[in-house]
Amino acid sequence: MGIYTKHLAPRLINLACGSPAIQRWRRDVCVGLRGTVVEIGFGSGHNVPFYPDEVTNVLALEPSSLAWRLGAKRIAASVIAIEQIGLDGQSIPLLDQSCDAALLTFTLCTIPDPVAALHEIMRVLRPGGELHFLEHGLAPDAKTALRQHRLDPLEQRLADGCRLTRRPLELITSAGFISQWKHEQFVKGPKPWSYFTLGVVTRRAN
Ligand SMILES: C[S@@+](CC[C@H](N)C(=O)[O-])C[C@H]1O[C@@H](n2cnc3c(N)ncnc32)[C@H](O)[C@@H]1O
Repeated sequence: MGIYTKHLAPRLINLACGSPAIQRWRRDVCVGLRGTVVEIGFGSGHNVPFYPDEVTNVLALEPSSLAWRLGAKRIAASVIAIEQIGLDGQSIPLLDQSCDAALLTFTLCTIPDPVAALHEIMRVLRPGGELHFLEHGLAPDAKTALRQHRLDPLEQRLADGCRLTRRPLELITSAGFISQWKHEQFVKGPKPWSYFTLGVVTRRAN
């Protein structure tokens, strides 16, 4: 891992992900979380202030030790127990059906194999357990989509593997989750990064 990826990228991502404009979306995606929650791509813990009181504990997966350290104050300030249980959301070290909910924010864009991660989430959720997600992705209009395809190689290099061209909703529904609600829209900001998808899906019964 190079110096940029290890030392600089997590700081830049921490700043971008901490943008005040995103906070209301984080609040919305966390509504309804309860019980034991597995958070994949925890980053520097920008969702921590929005965990509802009904959450009993959070089991976090995050490969960047610097991102984890950048979140230390938020973790320490939380009344909800937060534990880093591993590094890789593509292979979650938890028993089948051991979680009540899962949380993904701006992670499906970065995780190398999002399909594997979604299958792991399906495995560790109990039947009826909820996956709450907030992601950016490929825009519906051809002009923005073209810019996203052009920017993708640079984005991947500068933003730790992040892709602008993934379709989060398609990935999630193809994994077999059942949609509860979803919302997609452009938010304020540069268009290639600003097509947000937010929603809740549930794990199907066996
Ligand atoms: C754009 S950041 C988002 C961080 C955080 N979820 C947020 O909303 O602020 C993407 C995160 O995914 C993490 N990530 C990358 N590969 C991963 C993997 N295989 N498993 C779990 N997390 C991963 C990165 O280290 C980074 O913290």
